[in-house]
Amino acid sequence: MQLSTLERLQCPIPDCGESLKLAQGDRHFGMLACTGCSAEYPILAGVAIVVPDAEGYIIVHVKGISKWVRDDQIPKSIRKAYLAAKKAVEKEHIEEDLESDRVNALYFMTHYLNTKDAQVGVESPEIKEIIVKNWDRGPFSVVQKWIEETGSKKAVELGCGVGGLADRLAGTVQEYLGVDSSFASIALARAIYINDRGINEEAIMAEQGIPADLLQGPLSRKINLKQLRERIRAPKNIDFIVGDLETPPLKKGHYDASIVLNAIDMMGDPAVLPRVQKSLIRPGGIVIQSAPYIWHEQVAAQLRKKLTPSKSKDVTSAQVIEYIYSKNGLKIEKSLPHVPWVFFKHLRQIEIYSVHAFLSRI
Ligand SMILES: C[S@@+](CC[C@H](N)C(=O)[O-])C[C@H]1O[C@@H](n2cnc3c(N)ncnc32)[C@H](O)[C@@H]1O
Ligand SMILES: [Zn+2]
Repeated sequence: MQLSTLERLQCPIPDCGESLKLAQGDRHFGMLACTGCSAEYPILAGVAIVVPDAEGYIIVHVKGISKWVRDDQIPKSIRKAYLAAKKAVEKEHIEEDLESDRVNALYFMTHYLNTKDAQVGVESPEIKEIIVKNWDRGPFSVVQKWIEETGSKKAVELGCGVGGLADRLAGTVQEYLGVDSSFASIALARAIYINDRGINEEAIMAEQGIPADLLQGPLSRKINLKQLRERIRAPKNIDFIVGDLETPPLKKGHYDASIVLNAIDMMGDPAVLPRVQKSLIRPGGIVIQSAPYIWHEQVAAQLRKKLTPSKSKDVTSAQVIEYIYSKNGLKIEKSLPHVPWVFFKHLRQIEIYSVHAFLSRI
């Protein structure tokens, strides 16, 4: 992590919220500590893990962490439990390991390929047509335009995944912080934008790869990290940390823009999100949300209850979410009902989502 990010962080433990300090080591491998409750938050391979139960997080996310971090770099206090968890993962079915690499690879393609790169090797005229028509009209383009129009200078993105939006915002924002609960995604985003860890990022990325013709293996097309770093732009002050979007470890009221793209429908209680997003912005700041609203049935049932029974039958997901944001004092200023979001899977498969995107303001 960048140590300058520390002044914008706070302890994520509910009812604490005190400042954090670097208690041990350095910004590559170290330990942050809360100045109030003394809770500790490790930094592994430059990734600060600032979630309420950081040790529990490390055990659960062992698969992503072990790609970037050697065993002897895991804090001693949890190394035994970590190694046991790692052993259990190694015994799991191989498809599951491939699956997690693949998920990252799919997001990588969607975030970083441009219209031209996305067509390399594609022979299908139908797939090409979808790419040419829609690739540059997705949620990132919409957010880029809104951030430019509002002249927002400080942006935070929760659920940022592998971080592709930062490149799109670099022309306008001076400060960008990406937060996600996936260690693998944050480590990848840092490797792309912040080449500062003194670990062999190129070698790790060379193993990553993306799908092409699946006959050649699931991740046969290699990522050229050097070329990518030359192509992308980074806001002047950029960082990525691991955090939970329900309890983000961030000081309140600092940002001009708080952005969450395509994550609200992964939450157990979506109604938490407008409160969280609102808490992060200064008065007059903006809140941007987009999603394809692929709800789990239990979550949908809970959302229906937020409306009066007579109304809930005719109401759409987009209306409910705008309603919840409005009830939290966020005035909807711009709303696009259907933004195409192309999700590239491999040379013969493409998905297209239609996401609702809106900009609101306090
Ligand atoms: C569907 S992906 C979208 C990624 C990116 N925003 C985009 O639009 O391409 C959802 C992201 O939200 C993250 N996520 C889900 N639940 C989260 C949580 N509770 N806290 C932080 N991140 C979360 C996932 O790790 C994933 O990167
Ligand atoms: Zn604390």
